[in-house]
Amino acid sequence: MSKKTVLVSGGAGFIGSHVTVELAQAGYDVVIADNFSNCDETNYRGVCAILGREMPLVRMDFCDRGAVDALFAQYPFDAVIHFAAFKAVGESVAEPLKYYRNNLLSFVNILDAAREKGGLNVLFSSSATVYGETDRLPVTEASPRQEAKSPYGNTKVMCEDILRDSVKAYPGIRGIALRYFNPIGAHPSALIGELPRGVPNNLVPFITQTAIGKRECLSVFGNDYPTPDGTCLRDYIDIVDLARAHVCAVTRMCEDRMKEPYEIFNVGTGRPVSVLELVNAFEKVNGVKLNWKFAPRRPGDVTAIWADPTLAEKELGWKAERSVEDTLKAAWAWERRLAGK
Ligand code: UD1
Repeated sequence: MSKKTVLVSGGAGFIGSHVTVELAQAGYDVVIADNFSNCDETNYRGVCAILGREMPLVRMDFCDRGAVDALFAQYPFDAVIHFAAFKAVGESVAEPLKYYRNNLLSFVNILDAAREKGGLNVLFSSSATVYGETDRLPVTEASPRQEAKSPYGNTKVMCEDILRDSVKAYPGIRGIALRYFNPIGAHPSALIGELPRGVPNNLVPFITQTAIGKRECLSVFGNDYPTPDGTCLRDYIDIVDLARAHVCAVTRMCEDRMKEPYEIFNVGTGRPVSVLELVNAFEKVNGVKLNWKFAPRRPGDVTAIWADPTLAEKELGWKAERSVEDTLKAAWAWERRLAGK
């Protein structure tokens, strides 16, 4: 296979930076594009350090159609992985138009440029949030999607549909939507990881920031859920495992191995873990004491969700490999490195 070029929109972010590393190490030429609206250059620098070279970086906003056209004129892309999007659930409820404009317009611009170019392999980063609350667990790709509980979640549902319809209408455009469960952790080098701005919304960055002393106390949201220990169950997937799934999906598209021109895969471990189990595992593997307390349920949280990852294993030849323990060690090493400890 000749060398393929992959555009990674949002390539300086948490998931994008890990995917860039795995793609480059698998032999792809990668072009990172980011507007740095929700991150600084730390992860970009880390990617270059891991790979031992300066990676091509384009500072641009995918909502700017002219900039997207200029990018596509500059590079002969074989595939694009689209991460550039806002992702804060609460903020999306307060500012829905900000989310609809950014998350939908950027994707429409990419697909339109792909259409004009005569086709492209497009990987969209979707979320298990599209499944909503369900008691039929684990969820397979055939599980019904439910009405989204937030504008953020709705942009994931809508972008999946935009991709599906574009694939149907425009010959040459092929698409894969990867539905992520809960990506956590950091690269084993501790050179790239999650860098939330302000107070973290997600569990693991809140845990690591509490352990390092940046936050006083972790609130465990809800202890009266109908689960074995009363806290919510999630499918926490290691960020490097998740990144490898992208390499498998891009390769499947570039090597013409798709069974349908639009495909969907769950990217999870198949292993439910409760909030308390995660907190306890973090303390145990890292030998640190975490200050935490129970707090009321967080509005919008589902009781339990985890993946049936069988399809990804069968079709992509991918499965999660790292244990929650190793992932939590990596998350802690990253937080300590950030703090210079
Ligand atoms: C959320 C989003 C999901 C998105 C993902 C991105 C929803 C409902 N959830 O997933 O769409 O793709 O982030 O990373 O849209 N928790 C605490 N204390 C905290 C933080 C979290 O107890 O300080 C609990 C939550 O109640 C939940 C679990 O930890 O049970 C995981 O929460 P979080 O990391 O925010 O992920 P999700 O809500 O599952």
